[in-house]
Amino acid sequence: MNSQSFTLAERLIPATYLQQAAASKKTRENLIRQLIEQRKWPEEGWDDATIELLLADLAQMDSNNFPDNCGIGEREARFASALVARRHYRIGHGIGRSGDLGEVQPKAAGSSLMMKLVNSLLLDTIRYMGVKTTAGCFMVPMATGMTLVLCMLTLKQDRPGAKFVLWSRIDQKACFKCILTAGLQPIIIETVASGDELKTDLAAMEHQMCTIGSDNIVCVLTTTSCFAPRVSDSLEQVAVLCQRFNIPHVINNAYGLQSSRCMHLIQEAARKGRVDAFVQSTDKNFMVPVGGAIVSGFDKGLLERIARIYPGRASSSPAIDVFITLLSLGISGYKTLVTQRKEMYNYLRDELSKVATKHGERLLDTKNNPISMGMTLNSLVTSDPKSVTMLGSMLFLRCVSGTRVVSTVDYKEVAGYKFEGWGAHTSKYPVPYLTAAAAIGMQKSDVDQFISRLDKVINKLKGRSAPQTPTSVEELAMSGRRSKRSMNGEVSSSSERGDRERDRDRDRERDRDRDRERDRRSNSNRGGGGGSSLDGETGSSRSREEVRAAAARSRGTSGAAAASPSLNGEVSVSGSGSGGDVRADINSHNSSNSTSLASSKDSLRK
Ligand SMILES: Cc1ncc(COP(=O)(O)O)c(C=O)c1O
Repeated sequence: MNSQSFTLAERLIPATYLQQAAASKKTRENLIRQLIEQRKWPEEGWDDATIELLLADLAQMDSNNFPDNCGIGEREARFASALVARRHYRIGHGIGRSGDLGEVQPKAAGSSLMMKLVNSLLLDTIRYMGVKTTAGCFMVPMATGMTLVLCMLTLKQDRPGAKFVLWSRIDQKACFKCILTAGLQPIIIETVASGDELKTDLAAMEHQMCTIGSDNIVCVLTTTSCFAPRVSDSLEQVAVLCQRFNIPHVINNAYGLQSSRCMHLIQEAARKGRVDAFVQSTDKNFMVPVGGAIVSGFDKGLLERIARIYPGRASSSPAIDVFITLLSLGISGYKTLVTQRKEMYNYLRDELSKVATKHGERLLDTKNNPISMGMTLNSLVTSDPKSVTMLGSMLFLRCVSGTRVVSTVDYKEVAGYKFEGWGAHTSKYPVPYLTAAAAIGMQKSDVDQFISRLDKVINKLKGRSAPQTPTSVEELAMSGRRSKRSMNGEVSSSSERGDRERDRDRDRERDRDRDRERDRRSNSNRGGGGGSSLDGETGSSRSREEVRAAAARSRGTSGAAAASPSLNGEVSVSGSGSGGDVRADINSHNSSNSTSLASSKDSLRK
């Protein structure tokens, strides 16, 4: 309603009421005006009503929502489903125009304005998190790996004769595959050990620069955020080398935006040497669905050229999610999340350290990794060094996602490139270990549940789990139910299974029942209301069981992770953790290829 409508409304209801309503409306409108005027990330988060008001305004500025629009083109942002229209706030034209992600669309003034605002807010975020001198940034509706491809393809255009990318090894497939997808050839620089940490081999990097020659190298690809025990590459020293040899430098900062330490490293690298672009994921840093990344850098011209290499239009859906999230959090909300993440890092480190000590293990000393940490698993190694992977499977079955169990003797071929010790970022890490990450949004309850399940699972693996005595009437009742079920043969359905397997099943079920019971009690202790969590959801009127069932359902449909019984009755599990490539296969150690494990180190380079 405009001011004229308010005046007219005075004929229907008292003017004082209308003045109050108009003032309230004005407050929201002022927030929107300030955003467009200053293009700054608001200090305080907006309420949902204000965000929806702005989204509705933006949508109305796109031609598909003009009341008398007559669409004659092949792409008119039509919606066949009202559900889809609502899911996208009726914004459907996407972003960019053929051949430039940054270009404004005549048919979509609202979408184009939103995109400009998203990029402005993201620039503020990057600067706020520590890269103060960045020249600009833009969001790409593709995840990190594909966005790195875009950057490398742009750099390649300037160096037509070049085809090599110097890559400091990080065992995350997307980090490696992006080089291949760009049609380039990786030169793998193995990491070097420094105590427990794995660092950049600067001497090898320099050697390759000298040997291959700058004209043949498209860029150096370094990484900040990674699984322990690898730590961030030595960005500053690599940047200095890149400057000296005149070689572009791209940084994979996948989940480093949430860490002021990673951002500080990028800032220092750019101050002392050469950094062309750094890329970060939107889902990993802002808790939005997968689908976006941000390219940032210190040369506006290069950023514009990267944006121009994108063919055609792009989805605006990931940008809407980021827009809503940034407005909803405001600087103060994000600051809180960042602070809480740091606290969770310390808490996770302390708790993991305790459980490690309890089991005769230790926390890996990887202080220079601000997000991920590792715990040794020496005591779980049997005659088969891959036996530790069972721990990963067992944790996954207990709904622990995102941990990596690294045997250090795995072997993987990625598009013909051979990696010994896959998962460990090196071919010769001395101890098997498990990793855990304190990423943005992690809650104390995540840590507590993880530690408790880890403790139980290690006990079980070590064969120390004595039959548990029921400690309450409810548990007694449960154990009665269980034995009845067992007698009916429902639990151990296969007569071919050995006693050990049946015991394992029973243990597993008993654990689950206990967990459920404990969760039920803790829910009812919370009075059913729950506390409000960081992402704004209020805690559980849904029971933990329902949540788990829903999670299992969504896993089933998304295909992101699956657990399925195999023919021999074992359970084979594959799941995607934050690293995207967690794969714990109970059966895998039976089929491990011992000849390939023994393949020589030379075979690492193709
Ligand atoms: C360090 C690192 N780089 C790149 C990626 C790939 O990210 P995306 O799936 O967003 O392409 C990941 C995924 O976890 C990662 O951990």
